Amino acid sequence: MSFVERSLPFIPNPVNLEKSCILVAGAAGFVPSHLSEFYLKRGARVIGLDNFITGQHANVELLSAYKNFEFHEVDIIERLPETLYREKVDYIFNMASPASPIDFSRIPIEIMRVNSEGTRRLLELARVQGARILEASTSEVYGDPEVHPQVESYVGHVEINGPRSCYDEAKRFAEAMTSSYRMKYGVDTRIIRIFNTYGPRMRANDGRVIPNFINQALQGEDITVYGDGGQTRSFCFVTDLVAAIHEVMFCNDYTPFNIGNPEEKTILETAKLIVEILNSKSKIVFKELPKDDPTRRRPCLAKLQAVSSYRPLVDFRSGMMATADYFSALAPASLEKSPLHDSFRPTKCSQSYTNSI
Ligand SMILES: NC(=O)c1ccc[n+]([C@@H]2O[C@H](COP(=O)([O-])OP(=O)(O)OC[C@H]3O[C@@H](n4cnc5c(N)ncnc54)[C@H](O)[C@@H]3O)[C@@H](O)[C@H]2O)c1
Repeated sequence: MSFVERSLPFIPNPVNLEKSCILVAGAAGFVPSHLSEFYLKRGARVIGLDNFITGQHANVELLSAYKNFEFHEVDIIERLPETLYREKVDYIFNMASPASPIDFSRIPIEIMRVNSEGTRRLLELARVQGARILEASTSEVYGDPEVHPQVESYVGHVEINGPRSCYDEAKRFAEAMTSSYRMKYGVDTRIIRIFNTYGPRMRANDGRVIPNFINQALQGEDITVYGDGGQTRSFCFVTDLVAAIHEVMFCNDYTPFNIGNPEEKTILETAKLIVEILNSKSKIVFKELPKDDPTRRRPCLAKLQAVSSYRPLVDFRSGMMATADYFSALAPASLEKSPLHDSFRPTKCSQSYTNSI
């Protein structure tokens, strides 16, 4: 059993998932592929949508090993598959959006469109279907926060015209659109604000801090820390995040929930841990901090813990080892540099996915 499978907590099913149809927009992505698999394992029918703008075909191949999985390659900005209007859909997870800072300058308009036009399309589907819909928002709605730890009632400190605005403001819009559909049409909505998440199935060239550091360490390159490394993040292992998403989808509260892991780490201590666990010869070097990079990030989870028994279970070192092992397996040349053995290996699956378009 892989580390990912072992680390998923037991959560009783709140509904009969075997009779449920779950739509996951963005299913080829990092978090959504783990979320899809969580429900496939519990017997739900899962329909995945993705246009692969930042998703990976390998994730869809892996999900296609489940007979209860169906996939449509589609850009949700443009349209949804016709079949979704004819068959019953019970739960919709809107996870479709690029999320890495390297994408903010590369595809800013696509990011703004998927979170506005794409989100509206899924909300319309939820309205027509009478389905419950969960919007995956982000801690970035808090911007560079003046309130610490961040509580859901904090309205944020966000730059409107900066390099990160296409993402931060798009997610704020998506939340407002979701709430408007609830208020005007009575759509059954949920909103989560995800804090930094990591784990197997992230893209190697994703540009986010953990894959960056791990791949630099695996290749013996300098590890690039921006600023003095004193800025903090609270990193959540992906299985803990999936458990939290599930708790919110099946609770009775439509207001936004922070989800993540409240353990705060500096970027410098994260870099040092990676050097240590990979026994890497990489040096840590410092570069100028990019504009609007948040200085502190820690979720207050009191609200989530008031409605569920959610506690993150995976400690930072174990999660990092599983993630590093995943990237080591992707780069066989660097395997001998990794002292890791017992944890997650990416699964290869020969079955190809169905592309209905
Ligand atoms: N991973 C994190 O730390 C984090 C933090 C905060 C919020 N989130 C949110 O969680 C969700 C998933 O994030 P992730 O890190 O897994 O990112 P990801 O890029 O791996 O997954 C997003 C998926 O959405 C797909 N997608 C994007 N635009 C699309 C479109 N127009 N039509 C169809 N598919 C489209 C991408 O191809 C990709 O497969 C996103 O909404 C993101 O904003 C993630």
